[in-house]
Amino acid sequence: MIKSPLQKARSKYIPKLPKSLGESVALITGKPSEAIADKEAIKQMFPNTYGLPLVTFESGETSKNQILNVGVVLSGGQAPGGHNVISGLFDALKKLNNRNQLFGFIGGPDGLLSNSFIELNSAMVSDYRNTGGFDIIGSGRTKIEDEASYDKVISNCLKNNINALVIVGGDDSNTNACVLAEYFTEQKAGIQVIGCPKTIDGDLKNDYIETSFGFDTACKVYSELIGNIQRDANSAKKYWHFIKLMGRSASHISLECALKTQPNIAIISEEIEKYKLTLNKIVGQIAEVVKKRANKGENFGTVLIPEGLVEFMPSIKKLIAELNDILASKPEYYQLPTSQAKRDFITGLLSEESAKVYSSLPDSFAKQLTLDRDPHGNVQVSKIETEKLLIDMVTDRLAKDQSFHGKFNPQNHFFGYEGRCAAPSNFDADYCYSLGYTAALLINSGKTGYMAFIKNTSESFDKWLAGGVPITMMMNMERRNGHLKPVIKKALVDLKGNPFLMFRSKRKEWANNTDYIYPGPIQYFGPTEVCDAPSETLLLEQETIFQEESVLV
Ligand code: FBP
Repeated sequence: MIKSPLQKARSKYIPKLPKSLGESVALITGKPSEAIADKEAIKQMFPNTYGLPLVTFESGETSKNQILNVGVVLSGGQAPGGHNVISGLFDALKKLNNRNQLFGFIGGPDGLLSNSFIELNSAMVSDYRNTGGFDIIGSGRTKIEDEASYDKVISNCLKNNINALVIVGGDDSNTNACVLAEYFTEQKAGIQVIGCPKTIDGDLKNDYIETSFGFDTACKVYSELIGNIQRDANSAKKYWHFIKLMGRSASHISLECALKTQPNIAIISEEIEKYKLTLNKIVGQIAEVVKKRANKGENFGTVLIPEGLVEFMPSIKKLIAELNDILASKPEYYQLPTSQAKRDFITGLLSEESAKVYSSLPDSFAKQLTLDRDPHGNVQVSKIETEKLLIDMVTDRLAKDQSFHGKFNPQNHFFGYEGRCAAPSNFDADYCYSLGYTAALLINSGKTGYMAFIKNTSESFDKWLAGGVPITMMMNMERRNGHLKPVIKKALVDLKGNPFLMFRSKRKEWANNTDYIYPGPIQYFGPTEVCDAPSETLLLEQETIFQEESVLV
């Protein structure tokens, strides 16, 4: 690997470990746990891994265990810090016993099924310390979902003498990890499964998982870019920039970037859903802000758009649900010769309400809504150009508005892949290393069906706490592809939470004024307040500033 000067310097960074993960570490067992909802149903589906106690680590005597041969899998979309999860895991395993081994399955869950792996040795792990990306072993979105596949994983692990797996993934992958843990326990396969919370989307969080790794770095990268664009907008004073930001479902990324950069408009999908705002209403509100600013001679601005927005507008959500059913049940659709034939075919099968919405959409957008779903059945929202749709609709609206005398020159952007493989911020580098380290300790303690957690992350690292949360504790039942399934509950933006309330208290000023913040690039070397600060979301979530008001909302 050819390394840049920054990469070389950065490879020497030693991630900070919480004091509680110091020289010698003991496991403290808490009370038995319960699922957050649908307790009975989840208990029935996970008889072996339900009700396990929460566990934490403190200084004390480390238990001795058998030799550990651990397999690690990186699952789903890339997120900054994955390589540090592997470094932390590797270092802890070797510290526990130099004969312990770490194997990396190639290309995500696929590697588990095809028995494709490499042993990760010290030189290889060192090459990837503190770097972004998942390229050390690659990632993938394959879902391991039937008994034949579970058995294949067992036989591949046993063949290679692997007695534990660490699955690094988001809510779907960790739900899958829990299903595997349950099956392996039932089959007495002797293979433990531990999860680590990953996703730039920030929607795998709850009382125990304060944040998913990668969110901090990705938001810092996007905020740098948004800041640069805002400075350009404020210099040239001639463009409105419509910026779509990744985050398949929840709007945490858009909210965090808004708090960091103070754009003129930021759409939060969860709010759109709550107030059942239609596309037309959203367009009307954007046009109003454009007009108000134009009246002051300011024909420029920024709009942040979460990529998941389309799924939160009730009428489009309904349309997407109907499209999902049609695409899954009518394979003949894919054989139709022209896009018009495809569009007519679909229109004929939709409910009256959805057919009306579908017909009103421009061709390109309608087509994007019918693109292939991912292996978990999700619409690939990163391929839906909501930012262009909004630009077209706002342009139309302003053209028809006789009281608008300004100029509207829009530019569109989409930031997603730009941030997913950035070199992790100090926060993510430290957090991920600690997560990997904790995963090794959980394995050493004989645990399975747990997710590693690090708590107190808005405090300085020496106050961080490490432990494991039973994955069943984070689950509820949800309808997926027409069936009720146990899944880890996705964390959407909490409209009564501090981050949103802070944004809401400021957004009018940001719309009318030009109050932009230009955060600049991530800093890896320098004062701690510049280099080590966690996300605004995390800081605000741990504060109590809006508690009084939130009761009234
Ligand atoms: P994960 O949930 O797997 O972490 O992935 C999140 C994400 O980055 C979304 O923000 C985005 O919509 C999606 O992945 C893009 O997926 P792909 O990499 O398959 O294009």
